[in-house]
Amino acid sequence: MLNATIILMPKRIAVVPGDGIGKEVIPTALDVVRSSGAEVEFTSFDWGADRYLIDGTTVPADGFQMLARDFDAIFVGALGDPRVPSNIHAKEILLGMRFKMDLYANVRPVRLLDASLCPLKNATPQDIDFTVIRENTEGVYMDMGGNFKMGTPDELATQEDINTRKGVERVIRFAFEYARANGRKKVLMSDKSNVMTYAGGLWQRVFKEVAKEYSEIQTQHMFVDALCLQMVREPRSLDVIVTNNMFGDIITDLAAALQGGLGMAASGNIHPGRTSMFEPVHGSAPPIAGKNIANPMGAILTAAMMLAHLGLGAEARKIESAVLDAVRQRKMTVDVGGSMGTQECASWIAERTAAL
Ligand SMILES: NC(=O)c1ccc[n+]([C@@H]2O[C@H](COP(=O)([O-])OP(=O)(O)OC[C@H]3O[C@@H](n4cnc5c(N)ncnc54)[C@H](O)[C@@H]3O)[C@@H](O)[C@H]2O)c1
Repeated sequence: MLNATIILMPKRIAVVPGDGIGKEVIPTALDVVRSSGAEVEFTSFDWGADRYLIDGTTVPADGFQMLARDFDAIFVGALGDPRVPSNIHAKEILLGMRFKMDLYANVRPVRLLDASLCPLKNATPQDIDFTVIRENTEGVYMDMGGNFKMGTPDELATQEDINTRKGVERVIRFAFEYARANGRKKVLMSDKSNVMTYAGGLWQRVFKEVAKEYSEIQTQHMFVDALCLQMVREPRSLDVIVTNNMFGDIITDLAAALQGGLGMAASGNIHPGRTSMFEPVHGSAPPIAGKNIANPMGAILTAAMMLAHLGLGAEARKIESAVLDAVRQRKMTVDVGGSMGTQECASWIAERTAAL
């Protein structure tokens, strides 16, 4: 009988800290991952405003192919710097990853860790626990449109909202698969089909068709304005939400407020079976960068989400429970009512993770 030994290769993770507070929170999140014992190997890339201002590089020529070929996942901080007013580097790096690597599902878990973090009266962690799946490669973000008679009183501007059958179907299917894999009971599709009838009509038809394949999952539809009201008035009723690129962008900021603010929110940009990208929801926050006050929890929870995606569920759970302990023991930064600096807060979480 053969005695086979399975050697597990460490997961290869490309790290792009980026700009501003990304450069502070991402290294702390890497320390937390190391303290979880996860078998990972990090390779850092200096893509961001500093590099762009030195040599004009946003993404090297074969950058996206290299990421897809050589890495299991990508971990990004944030991009955006007032020294680059056009934000060209951020667009090329971030939107480049989403569009050129076809990371079509933006996954935003919205979980309240402690009642004290929520601006809603009497809301508990049981009330706020849902996930938004945002279409990530189409819609008004495809940059199609134009201007006519610009700068004159007769100026006209158009911005096209692109919705393909393939793009709509795959993200809706992703939402149902996500619900099934995570023991969720309901998928809600949100649009504005009462006025945006053509695109909304496509979403409606495809949603009904795909839903037939998932008979165990309940379905619901809500116009996006009604959904905003529901998110504030009765968030407990929400489970998995699927929506287009722009509505997803907007409602996930509202969702971040429900869980304690941008500093607490994690996200993944996913194409199943391909190298996917994980990033905290917040931006580079230039006014607070370099001051050791940024909240590292969003980045740390994002790292946990990435590990879970890579099959390192036990390590991910350790990190999540260490963050929960930090919140319960008020080992937090000032934006969420604590008094710790970025480094202290993250070190506390790293030590706690190592002890679990
Ligand atoms: N995914 C990304 O990389 C991303 C997302 C949003 C904005 N941006 C870019 O970031 C720059 C700033 O944008 P913005 O001000 O609209 O959004 P932002 O998320 O950087 O900041 C919004 C507000 O939240 C606060 N905040 C954000 N993250 C925080 C954290 N971890 N801890 C404590 N407070 C935090 C900021 O101080 C600010 O008050 C711009 O260049 C923008 O284009 C990048």
